[in-house]
Parts: sequence; C-alpha cells; structure tokens
Amino acid sequence: MPQHPKTEIILAIETSCDDTCVGIVEKGHKIHANVLSSQNEIHTQFGGIIPELAARSHLEKIGVILEIALQKACMSLSDIHAFAVTHRPGLASSLLVGVSFAKALSYATRLPILGINHIEGHLFACHLEKPDLPFPHLCLMVSGGHTFLVIVEKRNQYRMIGQTTDDAAGEAFDKVARHLGLGFPGGPIIEKMAAENRETPVFFPKAMLYSGDFNFSFSGLKTAVKYYVESLSKEEAEKQKKAIAAGFQKALVDVLVEKTIQAAQKYSISTITLSGGVAANRFLRSRLSEEAQKRDIGFYYPSIILCTDNAAMIAGLAYYKYQEGEQSDLSLALEENSQFMKSRQNTKNPF
Ligand code: KG4
Ligand code: ZN
Repeated sequence: MPQHPKTEIILAIETSCDDTCVGIVEKGHKIHANVLSSQNEIHTQFGGIIPELAARSHLEKIGVILEIALQKACMSLSDIHAFAVTHRPGLASSLLVGVSFAKALSYATRLPILGINHIEGHLFACHLEKPDLPFPHLCLMVSGGHTFLVIVEKRNQYRMIGQTTDDAAGEAFDKVARHLGLGFPGGPIIEKMAAENRETPVFFPKAMLYSGDFNFSFSGLKTAVKYYVESLSKEEAEKQKKAIAAGFQKALVDVLVEKTIQAAQKYSISTITLSGGVAANRFLRSRLSEEAQKRDIGFYYPSIILCTDNAAMIAGLAYYKYQEGEQSDLSLALEENSQFMKSRQNTKNPF
C-alpha cells in the first residue's frame, strides 16, 4: 500500500492486554483523542487477567471506542492519514483483535498501517507531552509485564542496562494486592492504602540494592509479604493492611529509585524519565523527583493517563516511524513474545 503523501494524523489501536484503546494524534504530539475502556470490573473477581475474557471484551468494544475517539477528535475516517496498531508483545488473543481490526480499517480505507511495539510505545509516552525531551536520557520502565532501565541514546536507539530477573514491578503490586485480598489491578489500590497508613510501615527487605549491577528482583519481596500475612491472624492482617501496603511499596520504590539514580550517575546521564503503568504511582514519582532534584538531574514523567496502557503513545511513536519510512502491510502478524526483552539484553535496539 503506498504511503499517504502526508502521514501526520495517525489513528492507533492498542489492545495488547486488558484495555481497549483508540488514540488519534497529529504530528507525534497533538492528542486529538485518547479513549480507553478498562476491563478491571471483569477481571477483578479473578485477581488477574483471564485472556479469553479480555479478547471477547475487546471484540465487543473496539468498534464503539473507535466511534467515540472519532467523535472526540471531531473527525471522520476521511481525516485520518494512516493507522498504527500494537502488534507485540502482549496476550495473543487480545493482540489478535486489535491487529485484525486495524488491518480491516487499512483495507477498507486504503490507508497505510504500521505495527508498533507496545514497550517502545511506553518509552515514547514522555515525548508526547515533551517533544524536546533531551537525548540521551535514562528511562525507568515499570509496567505489569516489564521492568528495566534503558538508555535512550536517540530516537530508535536503545541500550538496556538492567532488568528484573523475575517479576515485573507491576506484577509484584498485583500479586501482593491479591495476598491482601484487595482486588485487581493492585497498584492503584496499594498506593491508596499506603497513603492512608498512619502506622510505622512494616519493614520488608530491599532485594539486590547492592548487587553491583542495574538488575532488579521482586519475587522475594512478594514472597516476604505473603509469609508475613500468613503469620498473622485474620483480624491482625486486616488491622495491619495499610502498614503492610506502605512497607511493601516503600521497599519496592526505594530499590527502583536508588538503582535509577546510581545508573544515571554511572553513565553520566542528566535526564531521567519514567514510563509504564507503575509510573502512575505518586509515591514513586515524588521519591524519584526528590532524589533527581538533589543531584541536579532532570526528571520527566507522563500524565497518569499516558503511563498506563493507551493508544496515544502508539499513534505518537508511529508518526516518527512513518517519517523515517517505516510501514507494514496487510501481512502484519502479532507476536506474543513475552520473553522479548530478556532475550535481547544489551543489544543496541532491543525492539
Ligand atoms: O503499562 P500497564 O498499563 O500494562 C502493561 O503493559 O503491563 O501496567 C499495568 C501495571 C499493573 O500491574 C498495575 O497494577 C500497575 O501497572 N499500576 C500501578 C499503578 N497504576 C497501575 N502500580 C503502582 N501504582 C499505581 N498507581
Ligand atoms: Zn503497557
């Protein structure tokens, strides 16, 4: 399919996990619409995402979300120059809905389509609101599926310097919330409980703080919380919920902040960014901001709506990729590929 002579207004679809998202962005930063429908109500009773239910819900909602996005943008499909869609990594059945829908749109309108990596989209989220973000910068990427530190040397050039050896930070939030009987997703609930805590936070060990590298491990912390909760009576666990949430959040955030600052200093990088769902955590944002400020390091983080899954970040990134001549076609396939980052450690472009 030939490139539209002007690929400036991009409509993107994002269905990699449990949020059905459509975004319309002009020239990589002007957000005309960023609509999402969350499935939290469906999955909360299971304490985690059920892939079949996620895919079915995407299928039911994607057409309506597209309509709402076009209405919000005061546009019709004839105003769109090109499409973008998250095609990896994610839940295969969820990705399939978005990719098929975007391909159908591309086929029907004869407009180009481009597959985008979800993680690279998260890394781009800061640029949406700050297109002049300086390079190189160090990004702490913390989501439900990934946790890593990457140096963004320039657009399209990434250098991984550390990552979790087991659970992602968001996964730890979700699992600890489950041990505490708090619902799903765990991050926002734990953040709220911790903010309400008026007792001394329960102490939990900070894993790999002095490991000498920039890797993380959160599985031990999650298990420590589980054992602690199991050691208490039901009444006592209920009474201590907020102090446990605060202690867990502090242990996890302290490690993220400490290692990010150490990495910025080691690699002499003067700008830090934060991305991914856990970047919505206000305690993490303020702790990293404080520590960066003390050392005269610039610190940027996206608005909360751009931290968690959204399609504006996909549309924004796609604009730059179209400018560089990238384009997919109707053979675009999804890639579940959850081990993607692990297998590409330390390569120049892990995407
Ligand atoms: O980026 P995201 O929306 O989806 C993935 O790509 O994984 O991240 C979802 C993760 C979930 O684990 C959720 O609990 C966590 O982000 N999260 C938070 C907060 N909001 C979402 N974690 C801590 N504090 C929050 N406020
Ligand atoms: Zn995500």
